Amino acid sequence: MSIQLQPEVQPVQQTQVQPLWTRKHLLGLEDLSADEINRILDDAERFRLQTQDGRKLSVLSGTTTANLFFENSTRTRTSFSLAARRLGGDVIDFSASTSSVSKGETIIDTAKTIEAMHAHAIVVRHHTPGTPHLLSQNLRCSVINAGDGPHEHPTQGLLDIFTIRQHRQKVAGLTVALVGDIAHSRTARSNIWGLKKLGAHVIVCGPATLVSKKWETLGVEVSYSLDEILPRCDVLNLLRIQFERQQTRPFPSVREYVHLYAMNMARLRRAKDDILIMAPGPINRGVELTPDVADGPHSVILDQVTNGLYIRMAVLHLCIGAGKRGEA
Ligand code: CP
Repeated sequence: MSIQLQPEVQPVQQTQVQPLWTRKHLLGLEDLSADEINRILDDAERFRLQTQDGRKLSVLSGTTTANLFFENSTRTRTSFSLAARRLGGDVIDFSASTSSVSKGETIIDTAKTIEAMHAHAIVVRHHTPGTPHLLSQNLRCSVINAGDGPHEHPTQGLLDIFTIRQHRQKVAGLTVALVGDIAHSRTARSNIWGLKKLGAHVIVCGPATLVSKKWETLGVEVSYSLDEILPRCDVLNLLRIQFERQQTRPFPSVREYVHLYAMNMARLRRAKDDILIMAPGPINRGVELTPDVADGPHSVILDQVTNGLYIRMAVLHLCIGAGKRGEA
């Protein structure tokens, strides 16, 4: 197999009539329709074209977005901040480790305190599944889920799908494999909901301790052999082994995991010529994939990071900006 350079990324044809957006919150992709997902992707593409040269817009002027992160983040937190600022909004950056949470303040009281400073959106990441849902029932402002434990990470799912659509001009009919720590992955759940709704065939693949047969109830194929599924895959999304969420080690050694599941150059030679290599990040270099694959011509990992900015612009605009009124 010869490795081919990625073709130049083409703008995606947008749908002509935009479905009306009626949601105040973005809590997950499980609840969204295909039309709603496409609306976010189309708006993100419009923001990409309008701001990729660094231009700022003013569509969020007069709004405040608060980042309420109880878990660490590099990509999600900074891109929500930058997205709000690029669209003319203000940002409150809250860090749980230096806040009054350490004095015993509850998460609802903390969020209400931030809301009282006239926040229009609270972007929350928390280790407990359902935290964004709880806040949405107790606040007047919009709540956006930036990752709730192993449950959902909707903007990650959206930016992954946006990146696939950007490079392949479609999602329907593609075979997308999510490989690795499926059990603890909020990214896996959001990808599955979104990809299935847009017509992709989804495979979850990894060690049996991290990939239960129960995933088949979500309409996905379950595999324990990367080598068996590899020739069929259009996209591999390599999920990080989340050692911090595991009570016991799910496989005898990292070396064994690498032998069976790491994407390396030998495996790449057996894959489709135009396979897309993705990873939500952060990556464990040498575990989920080798550095030559991570930095090679099939990798779109940094495109995912860039596209996160446009997806978060679209989500903020729809939930707290003019988008929620159906305007452009
Ligand atoms: N992919 C992702 O959510 O990255 P961060 O944890 O750096 O935000």
